Amino acid sequence: MINELVTEREWHHLYPEVDQEYVWEYPLFRGESEPGKNLFESQDTPLSNDLGLYIHVPFCLYRCPMCGFYMEIVKDRSFSKRYTDALIKEFMTYKAHFDFSTKKLKSVYFGGGTASLLEAEDVGRIVTLIKDTITNNETVEITVENHPNIATKKYLEDLKKIGVNRVSFGIQSFDDADLRLLKLKQREEQNVKILQTALEVGFDTVAADLIYSIPNQTIDVFLSNVNKLISMGVSTISLYSMGLSERQEDLYDLMPSQEVEHQMFSESMQLLLENGYVQVAQPDFCLPNHINYDTEITWKAPQGEQISLGAGAWSYYNNFLYCNTHNSKKYMEDVFNNGYSIQYIQKATLDDQMSRYMVLGARCFDIPDEPFKNYFGASIFDIYGQEIRLLESQGLIERTKTGISVTMNGRYYVDNISKTFYSPANRCRLQPYCYGVGDEWR
Ligand SMILES: C[S@@+](CC[C@H](N)C(=O)[O-])C[C@H]1O[C@@H](n2cnc3c(N)ncnc32)[C@H](O)[C@@H]1O
Ligand code: SF4
Repeated sequence: MINELVTEREWHHLYPEVDQEYVWEYPLFRGESEPGKNLFESQDTPLSNDLGLYIHVPFCLYRCPMCGFYMEIVKDRSFSKRYTDALIKEFMTYKAHFDFSTKKLKSVYFGGGTASLLEAEDVGRIVTLIKDTITNNETVEITVENHPNIATKKYLEDLKKIGVNRVSFGIQSFDDADLRLLKLKQREEQNVKILQTALEVGFDTVAADLIYSIPNQTIDVFLSNVNKLISMGVSTISLYSMGLSERQEDLYDLMPSQEVEHQMFSESMQLLLENGYVQVAQPDFCLPNHINYDTEITWKAPQGEQISLGAGAWSYYNNFLYCNTHNSKKYMEDVFNNGYSIQYIQKATLDDQMSRYMVLGARCFDIPDEPFKNYFGASIFDIYGQEIRLLESQGLIERTKTGISVTMNGRYYVDNISKTFYSPANRCRLQPYCYGVGDEWR
């Protein structure tokens, strides 16, 4: 079972202290999967016409010990052409079954794994096909996630030529002691160099991920990481709190305390806000005009739809939540034979759809009432009055002219807030992968 059922106590972890589980997907799977073909047999009216395409590349050259994602190790880029052929075949299945004329393509996002292991030419083939199919795409944001050690100037220039306008880098830290302790292969020098190169190549947006609360990390070291990105002119900065995997048991005792972690979170938030960044989601800060459409589509209420292609990719489309087969060999075989390869799929009930609006909406802080009323025929205050009053009394949210908003204090407790809106059917179900990767995925 992907979304394991646990007790209330386990589910809340340290609740009402900050919840340790990152709520990134909703609703959660329960019971048997439906047949994959159900997805293609009807088309629901969506909550929003905004559409995002996510392309998953679950391959890496080595496994970082902290990694809790499903990934497969490859030696080089030789998988790229055949894997891209499968991605294209999978997209053609959508093209054959759905009418995209009313959709607005907001984002095409290549993520991983290591998305930058796809040949630039293959990225180009996919982008062209998607843009030719979904023609309402004037403002589309096209992102490729890059690994600092793998991207080169030539690769970045090639991406730019084929229309990629946003690149992101898993920087994690500029401190070599942090990088060594986490057994990551990049060093400060490579991190700085690749960001400078990307800025020179001239993408609309250069984004970087940092991890805070790394074992032994001090507040000063973390803040100097943030300062470095600000001074370089990196326009989107995502801050992730360290989650150790079971391969890192030796580091558990070296984790900064909860108080230090909270201080890192609030001081870096302050620093970024003072420097003109807007927090568009927990964990993303952007300079104005660099708002990340992929995040908005996935989380911001009213959420858009997301079709995700590739092995192990997660989609929410046509009011179905589903994930593709994780094993890339089986994924490709299925796609070449049947046009798609869905491992688990579940139709969202009306209850799921309503609570999804709130659970994921909380990650982007402002939850408007009007689109909810228009789609579901009732106000968020009628359906979630009790939950809203509870969170208001805890100082985690407040009412606004348009709906509700997470308070500055509440931004640290976003996962607690999200969980308050879980429907009874989803309560006590864990998010996928929060304890690492189970054997069933191998
Ligand atoms: C979805 S991952 C992108 C995948 C990419 N292959 C990577 O890990 O670099 C986005 C970010 O999550 C963060 N991340 C990955 N593993 C983490 C962990 N164990 N604890 C905290 N943050 C983590 C890193 O900052 C990473 O860049
Ligand atoms: S953390 Fe990212 S780069 Fe490292 S192994 Fe996992 S998916 Fe690959």
